[in-house]
Amino acid sequence: MVARQAAKAVRTAVAALPVDELPEVRLRPPDGSDGEFLAELHASVADDEWDGYDDPPEDQLDGASFGGGAAIVERPDGTRVGSVSWIQVPHGPNRRSLAWCIGITIHPLHRGQHLAASAQRALADDLFSRSDANRVEAETDAGNLAERHALERGGFTEDGVARGANWRRGEWHDMVIYSRLRSDRDADASPE
Ligand SMILES: CC(C)(COP(=O)(O)OP(=O)(O)OC[C@H]1O[C@@H](n2cnc3c(N)ncnc32)[C@H](O)[C@@H]1OP(=O)(O)O)[C@@H](O)C(=O)NCCC(=O)NCCS
Repeated sequence: MVARQAAKAVRTAVAALPVDELPEVRLRPPDGSDGEFLAELHASVADDEWDGYDDPPEDQLDGASFGGGAAIVERPDGTRVGSVSWIQVPHGPNRRSLAWCIGITIHPLHRGQHLAASAQRALADDLFSRSDANRVEAETDAGNLAERHALERGGFTEDGVARGANWRRGEWHDMVIYSRLRSDRDADASPE
């Protein structure tokens, strides 16, 4: 099977937004009250062009398969707007080379308000404070312009393309890799 190639068109990255221009979000562990919201959220991406997977249940993996986790994204008033997840990915045979790879879904009713940018930045900073990892990464289909914008607005930098990395809906897809490093967080925290 030939991988679907990443978009060849030259695309200019958008600038990161300062944290005080991002909407405030809170990340909290899911609890028993979130079942209906999470079911609705998952149903909203079941047929999504970029985030819908049709593998049988036994071939679907969750964060628990990789030493990761998940959180509800909510506004300060407690309105649930989406969820984030994270897993560990190795970049060498040693513990210090473990990075975090994150994922996100924002409920369709709440998109386009920079909530994904804010939540992904908050999650990266939270993972830096809770672990000694140097790198938080995210990968998305080259065509997923909303997610690419959201990552860039949230202070992630494009690293490159992982060819034929993602099996989705009967095809291999090229994925664009983004990262935020601990030094990016530190630089943002202490502007000149
Ligand atoms: C991707 C997703 C998380 C973005 O959430 P969001 O809260 O709407 O994102 P943000 O508001 O932070 O940023 C979206 C940016 O993309 C832009 N955008 C949205 N749709 C777009 C489109 N179709 N084409 C180009 N740009 C688009 C917005 O204008 C905004 O950019 P801006 O800052 O330049 O205005 C959300 O659309 C979603 O949950 N999609 C389904 C799941 C998914 O794809 N998850 C990622 C899988 S890797």
